[in-house]
Amino acid sequence: MQMVRLMKSLRLLSLLPRNPREFYDRVSSIAEARWAARDERPSYSVHAEQSALHLLAGALGTDVTLLSCEARLVEIEAQVQRGKEQIPADAPFGAFHNSDYSLARFCYQLVRALQPRVIVETGVCYGVTSAYVLQALEVNGKGCLHSIDLPPLGKDASKHIGRLVPAPLRSRWTLHRGTTKRLLPPLLAELREIDMFIHDSLHTCRNMRFEFGAAWPALRPGGVLVSDDVEGNVAFQDLSALPDVALSVVIKEQSKESLFGVAVKRA
Ligand SMILES: C[S@@+](CC[C@H](N)C(=O)[O-])C[C@H]1O[C@@H](n2cnc3c(N)ncnc32)[C@H](O)[C@@H]1O
Repeated sequence: MQMVRLMKSLRLLSLLPRNPREFYDRVSSIAEARWAARDERPSYSVHAEQSALHLLAGALGTDVTLLSCEARLVEIEAQVQRGKEQIPADAPFGAFHNSDYSLARFCYQLVRALQPRVIVETGVCYGVTSAYVLQALEVNGKGCLHSIDLPPLGKDASKHIGRLVPAPLRSRWTLHRGTTKRLLPPLLAELREIDMFIHDSLHTCRNMRFEFGAAWPALRPGGVLVSDDVEGNVAFQDLSALPDVALSVVIKEQSKESLFGVAVKRA
């Protein structure tokens, strides 16, 4: 254990002369994650998946529930599952980092219902959610996904990011390497307006507030923000209190104790 820690510290230190900016970003992320234990906890009334989908259908003006039976959703789920079974034991992330299937399915259904032009996602890991979102865009026949991720340091870690995204779906995908603090503001400025934002990167209150604060103003009226792991701090609770939130729901994930939140911007 101590050996692993030592190796990680050495890898981090070796980055300093090569890339001082990334060194600073990584050190500040580590410090931020340590402080997150002190984050204030929120209190939510949690919705069952079906009731959340009905509420969202009302807010979006389209029946999101029917989309859960689509053959292309079943297809991508099987592909992702097969891909997960092929991840080598020494790959950089533990399985618990993977997005829960209920969250990924929810994202697929929202993308099908919203028919978005531009989606921004933070936190890719092996790419469970990215694969579902890209499959939904493919079925829609339009739209693109921009994802931001800073992979862990270590041999070949970068090549595992998004490995579950099937090759035929990649033409609608741009993967940006770096922290969201550094990359999200210029990306949003370039895109001007987005239809959907998905947060699943560093789940500290500070970082979630930062990402929501950047993404919400860029979201078009009627657009949707999805956030994984909203239970750890009050960032999503604060976002839900904004006057231009038409609806916000919090849902329990099927295979984890985590909660995800969905907020719809007033049209
Ligand atoms: C929980 S995993 C994402 C799971 C993924 N959404 C999925 O569908 O399986 C978190 C990811 O966020 C990335 N990450 C952590 N901190 C970050 C930061 N400050 N900026 C960008 N990416 C970050 C990690 O490299 C990791 O890939």
